[in-house]
Amino acid sequence: MSNEVEDYQQFVKKIYSKTGIDLSLYKEVQMKRRLTSLRNKREYASFALYYNALIKDQELLREFLDKVTINVSEFYRNGSRWKILQEKIIPNLIANKKKIKIWSAACSTGEEPYTLAMVANQFFDLNQIEIIATDIDSNVLARAKQGLYNERALQEVPADIKKKYFTQEGTSFKVDEKLKECIKFKKHNLLADTYPKDFDLIVCRNVLIYFTEDAKSKIYHNFNQALVSDGVFFVGSTEQIFNPEKYGFKVLDTFFYQKSNF
Ligand SMILES: C[S@@+](CC[C@H](N)C(=O)[O-])C[C@H]1O[C@@H](n2cnc3c(N)ncnc32)[C@H](O)[C@@H]1O
Repeated sequence: MSNEVEDYQQFVKKIYSKTGIDLSLYKEVQMKRRLTSLRNKREYASFALYYNALIKDQELLREFLDKVTINVSEFYRNGSRWKILQEKIIPNLIANKKKIKIWSAACSTGEEPYTLAMVANQFFDLNQIEIIATDIDSNVLARAKQGLYNERALQEVPADIKKKYFTQEGTSFKVDEKLKECIKFKKHNLLADTYPKDFDLIVCRNVLIYFTEDAKSKIYHNFNQALVSDGVFFVGSTEQIFNPEKYGFKVLDTFFYQKSNF
């Protein structure tokens, strides 16, 4: 094996033990090309040197993770999970409720909170729905507030929902203004800021994979405290919680956890 190949393979192994992100599951040619170009831009002659720098410098690590994860969102991402949310989780959750309070944490450009508003609107009038949508990145929040999307972001949206909540403007699709009114976008860092409270549902998807086990433990605990007594926590499709009872959760369905008193 050439030194270069060995260097990259060792890097892949070390990144997996540090972040839980398995680079070997990504198409190697493209991934290696992207990471080599980032590494060269930061002027490290090998992946071994680049790794040593990454573990000491949070900013460098963040830049690397941004490059690794395709930092996009879409409406109804992993559609089968949203079906479960709509058909099973919400109907149980709202049995005696006249309104619903939801947190979309790490909401990126807004597709997730808008999807939540569309789903919740099947059960509640829009003025009975309160959604807090947060992200660490002000740029994505500004785009989320704008509510303008290309067709690709809408590919999982059912036709009737698309018709009901979007207006086409040229090649873009604009979210209905009324839907926007039930969502408050705010900057929030999951790793540092105080958590808001009293949510019936918290949705936090496709960001926890970036974090260390310690950080995730704290976040699970904080989310548990941020839920009402029977509240539900919905995670991303690679983000099952190992040992949910440790954080006061019981499994409701794959990727859905309910706060419970053990
Ligand atoms: C891949 S997107 C996920 C978007 C959406 N939740 C989804 O699943 O489609 C990850 C988002 O996490 C945000 N993020 C990263 N670190 C964060 C932190 N410490 N606190 C809050 N948000 C963070 C990023 O800015 C990015 O918008």
